[in-house]
Amino acid sequence: MTASSSFILILLSTALVNSYQILLLKGKSALHGHRDGINDSRRTFIASSIAAISATSVIKPTSAISAEEASKSYDVYAKTYDNLDGGSAASALGIDEARTKLLQLAKGDALEIGVGTGLNLSSYKLSKGGTDGITSLTLVDISEGMLSQARLRVQQLGLEGHIPVKIIQADATSQLGELFGRNKFDTVVDTFSLCVMGNEGAKKCLNEMTGVVKEGRDGGQILLIENTRSSNPLLGAYQDVTASSAADLGGKGCLYNQNVGNMIENIQGLKLLREETYAAGLFRSFVCEKTT
Ligand SMILES: C[S@@+](CC[C@H](N)C(=O)[O-])C[C@H]1O[C@@H](n2cnc3c(N)ncnc32)[C@H](O)[C@@H]1O
Repeated sequence: MTASSSFILILLSTALVNSYQILLLKGKSALHGHRDGINDSRRTFIASSIAAISATSVIKPTSAISAEEASKSYDVYAKTYDNLDGGSAASALGIDEARTKLLQLAKGDALEIGVGTGLNLSSYKLSKGGTDGITSLTLVDISEGMLSQARLRVQQLGLEGHIPVKIIQADATSQLGELFGRNKFDTVVDTFSLCVMGNEGAKKCLNEMTGVVKEGRDGGQILLIENTRSSNPLLGAYQDVTASSAADLGGKGCLYNQNVGNMIENIQGLKLLREETYAAGLFRSFVCEKTT
C-alpha cells in the first residue's frame, strides 16, 4: 500500500502474501476457500520469519520520527519518492483510485499538509466559478526537498495559471494555527503523512488541522487517506508486530498500523462523517468535519 513509502509498499505486499499463507497453513483458506500448494519447507520458513519478526518487534509503537528527522530524511528520499509510491505498485493497490475519488470533494480554499512531491496535485478539481472545485491551494511540508519536487509538479501542471498556489515549509504538528489562524480553509487534506508523525504527532496534527479548517456548517471539511491497522485480525496482528521495524528499516519512518478512525473520534470538535476501506483495510479514506 501506500503509504506512500516504498518500503511500506513492499512490506504490505509481503504482509498480504504472508497473511494469506498463514491462513492457508491453518487450513482456513479464507481468501479462496481451498487449501494451498505451498510445501512444508516454505511453511516452516514463513512461520519462523513471522516468529523472528514478532520476537524483535515492539508491539505498540508510539512515535515515529520527529519533525526534524522527517525533514532530513525526506530531503534524501525526495528525488526517488515517486518511483514506487507514485508508480504502478501504488496504482495496483488502489492508491491512485483512492486519491482521485477523495480529492474530487475538495473545494474552496484548500490546504494540503505533508504534501510531499505533490502526488495529489493532479487529482484536484479546479473551480470554474461555481461552488465546485478549489479556488486556492496552500501546500505545506517539513521537507524542503519534497517541496522542491512539489514546486516542479505545480509548474508542470500549470496550476498557477488557474488558482493562487502557496508553498510553505512548516511543521504540521505545531505550526498551522500560528501560520494561518482559526477557521481559514474550506478543505484541509492529508494523505499518508500522519503515519510519519507517530501516534502523538498525528494527534497533534489532527488538532492543528481542526483548528484551521472552517466549521462543517460553513462547508469546512478535512479529507484524509492514511495507512491503517487492518480489520482482518491476522493482518492487523502482523502489522502490529512489524510496524516499528518497518518504520525503522526503510519504511521512511511510517508507522502503518495506526488506528486513525479512533484518533479522529478522540479529537475534540472533529467528527468522522465517512470512512472507506481499501486493500483489506491497510489504508482508508476519511471525510471529517469540524463541529465547534
Ligand atoms: C509518506 S510522505 C506522504 C507524501 C504525500 N502526502 C503523498 O501522499 O505521497 C510523508 C510526508 O510528510 C512530511 N512530513 C513528515 N512530518 C511532517 C511534519 N511534522 N510536518 C509537515 N510535514 C511532515 C514528509 O516530509 C513527507 O513529505
